[in-house]
Amino acid sequence: MANESAFITDIQTLRKRAREHIENGAITPGYAADRGTVIKLLNEALATEIVCTLRYKRHYFMAKGINAEAVAAEFAEHAAEEQEHADQIAQRIVQLGGEPDLSPQGLAARSHAEYVEGDSLTDMITEDLVAERIAIDSYKEMVNYFGSQDPTTRRLMEQILAKEEEHAEDLVSLLEGMER
Ligand SMILES: [Fe+2]
Ligand SMILES: [Fe+2]
Repeated sequence: MANESAFITDIQTLRKRAREHIENGAITPGYAADRGTVIKLLNEALATEIVCTLRYKRHYFMAKGINAEAVAAEFAEHAAEEQEHADQIAQRIVQLGGEPDLSPQGLAARSHAEYVEGDSLTDMITEDLVAERIAIDSYKEMVNYFGSQDPTTRRLMEQILAKEEEHAEDLVSLLEGMER
C-alpha cells in the first residue's frame, strides 16, 4: 500500500537513526551507495588529478617557442585547477570515512590519464587534450554510477567534469592557434 512513508522517512525514525553511530559523521544509515566502491573510484580520480597536475607543471616549465608564453600561462592555470580538484576529492574521501591515497608508489597505474612529457609545444597540448578526454569519459561514468545513491559525490564530480570540459576546449583553441 502506497503512503507517504514510502518516500520520506518519518521524523521520529530520522531523529533516532541520526543518534546511532554518530562516529560515522556525514555517513548516515540513509547513505545508499557502496562506500568502499565510491572511495576506490574517488582514489582513482585523485590519482588522475595528481598526474594531470604534474604533467601540466612539467609542460609549463618546458614550454618553448614563439607561442610559449600564452600556452605556458594556460598550462599553469590548468595545473592549479587540477590541484584544486585533487584537494576537493581528497576532502570528500575523508568525509566518507576513507583515506586519500597520496602514495607516489603506483600513482601512474591508479591514474586513468597518463603522464606524457611531449617534445614540442604541439605535442604537449595534444597529450593534455588526450588526458582531458580520458578524464571526461571516466568522470562521466562515475557521475552515472553515483547517481542518486550519493548525490554529494555526484555533484562534486559533475563540477569537476564541467571544468575538464572547459580545459579540453581551451586546448583545442590552443592547437588551432598553433596550426595557423
Ligand atoms: Fe581536474
Ligand atoms: Fe583538466
